[in-house]
Amino acid sequence: MIRTGTEGDARRIHRLITANLAEGHLLPRSLPDVAQHAERFVVVTVGGRIVGCAELAPLSPSVAEVRSLVVAEARRGQGVGRRMVNELRAHAVRRGFEQICAFTHEPAYFERLGFSVVPHVSIPEKIAKDCHQCALFGRCGQFAMVSDLALPSHDGPSINALRV
Ligand SMILES: CC(C)(COP(=O)(O)OP(=O)(O)OC[C@H]1O[C@@H](n2cnc3c(N)ncnc32)[C@H](O)[C@@H]1OP(=O)(O)O)[C@@H](O)C(=O)NCCC(=O)NCCS
Repeated sequence: MIRTGTEGDARRIHRLITANLAEGHLLPRSLPDVAQHAERFVVVTVGGRIVGCAELAPLSPSVAEVRSLVVAEARRGQGVGRRMVNELRAHAVRRGFEQICAFTHEPAYFERLGFSVVPHVSIPEKIAKDCHQCALFGRCGQFAMVSDLALPSHDGPSINALRV
């Protein structure tokens, strides 16, 4: 089951993110931060347990960022991540955003979901909001990726591959 997060989910969302930090692909989140933004999350539950979460964080009136996307290890490879990103895409369309973006060490994954790699400077909202304050600014090794919401949601191979 996929649904919007609630404040009551915050502890379990926080636990899921924290349990998967060791892979080095997620930023740590504090419990108060997750609780404050719990309603921006979508969660996937199986038998009442949260097995996946992802947040849609507005960066500007036109761009929103997919953050803290994580699927419990035992549930990976079953389309849970794709489902959550597609759900966030639908939320973003309803809220009038034009683009969603992600900053990630996993560009191949986001490409499969219809995102394309872009230069970091093409998302100035992110640089102003987070990157300038970050100790790793300019050397974080993350890829900036965007997906235009005018394009249909993507369920197949890389959109770049389709354009070739
Ligand atoms: C990345 C992550 C969210 C993927 O979740 P998932 O539920 O296993 O992914 P899905 O099953 O929805 O995969 C969708 C497609 O991407 C592919 N895929 C999965 N992980 C991939 C990866 N790391 N690189 C490239 N492709 C990947 C799947 O094979 C599937 O392919 P398909 O189009 O042939 O069906 C999960 O591995 C995870 O939580 N990783 C740790 C945290 C993380 O890296 N988060 C992302 C950075 S913000």
